[in-house]
Amino acid sequence: MGKQLAIHGGPKAFTSDLPKWPIFGKEEEEGLLQVLHSGAWGRQETPNPQVGRFEQRFAEAHECKYGVANTNGTVALRLALMACGIKAGDEVIVTPFTFLATASAVVEANATPIFADIEPDTYTIDPKSIEKLITPRTKAIIPVHLGGLPCKMDEIMAIAKKHGLYVIEDCCHAHGARYKGKSVGSYGNIGVFSFQSSKNMSSGEGGALVTNDKELHHLLYSFHNCGREPGHPWYRHFRCGGNYRLSEFVGAILNAQLDRLEDQTKTRDANGRYLGKLVDKIPGLKTQHISADVDRHAFHLFVVRYDASAFGGVPREVIVEAAKAEGIPLALGYPIALYQQPMFREGVFGSYTGCYIDHPQLDYKKTDCPVCDNACANEALWLLHQNLLGTREQMDGIAAVFKKLYDNREELAEFAAQQARA
Ligand SMILES: Cc1ncc(COP(=O)(O)O)c(C=O)c1O
Repeated sequence: MGKQLAIHGGPKAFTSDLPKWPIFGKEEEEGLLQVLHSGAWGRQETPNPQVGRFEQRFAEAHECKYGVANTNGTVALRLALMACGIKAGDEVIVTPFTFLATASAVVEANATPIFADIEPDTYTIDPKSIEKLITPRTKAIIPVHLGGLPCKMDEIMAIAKKHGLYVIEDCCHAHGARYKGKSVGSYGNIGVFSFQSSKNMSSGEGGALVTNDKELHHLLYSFHNCGREPGHPWYRHFRCGGNYRLSEFVGAILNAQLDRLEDQTKTRDANGRYLGKLVDKIPGLKTQHISADVDRHAFHLFVVRYDASAFGGVPREVIVEAAKAEGIPLALGYPIALYQQPMFREGVFGSYTGCYIDHPQLDYKKTDCPVCDNACANEALWLLHQNLLGTREQMDGIAAVFKKLYDNREELAEFAAQQARA
């Protein structure tokens, strides 16, 4: 039999165009022009402001009473920690299978991130691992709804209640996700979102905080707006906040993007579950386990757990290369656990925060999260959310690419061996 794979010059298995991101239309254009002509470009408190309206609508969409829009998800995490009173000497339990900001925001708040392991079948933070790490210094937990799959929020909230901890939900992958009849962001004290370019709702850059706690909302608003308080003169600063406000231009884009969120989330959820069932049938490939408690997966990422032994030992990198050649933009997951970053291993951050002074014994080289290390080194692959906005036929086509790679695993192994020799 001749060579079958596109990587060897064979016919591409997937030839149609998958959706591009971001998606926008006349609604975004009209909103931007309206702000432009109004001359009111910075955050307005009245009348009918874009940012204020967005805050209210976005909070309601996530079953929260209050929202504060701000410059990005990283800042939003930091503002959340500040509002919860997290300070030098405090420990905050985070997942190591996430973007840097989940842990760097803790460092920026002068506190110390402590890494809990993830679950092997969902890649979300493992509640059992959290419990083992709690000390008298622990003040908060930041679960990340990884790829849009809600964490086990009931178990996490029970641990937080038992130990008197804050929960800040990192929902940067999870706009519109739902768990056990409630929206993500409404379980913890504060929910944090990002609207950076790749996210399920985007304004290029941007972030939002949602909460049901009036006092926390008061602090979040004040910290993001130079320490000001509503109803007081502009030159009154009550606490040391920064300027993390959003412009009305960004507010206009976000209002239009929010109008699209519900339909897009339903499509991602339906297509992601459909594709997952097809991929799970292929030996060596398993998608994130979605329990019956998950009402809606936001599918920021379509996560695949790869087992090279079922593919004759073909390295993950070769699978990615071969899938791309077939027409599917597959990517490697996070390549290393967060605590393996030079920032933690070499302790660079200790120089400007209290972490090392407060924790002289802390050595991230000793952090032990074997499930996360395995996911990073061997297993995790993903497709970005926009691919799930395609048609059912395209989902069948994506699954057919994975099947083609499996069926031609010997050819892939040969390709990998050639690469290794070159
Ligand atoms: C899980 C997670 N948390 C936080 C952030 C930070 O958001 P931003 O890029 O808007 O600062 C991101 C993404 O970029 C993320 O993926």
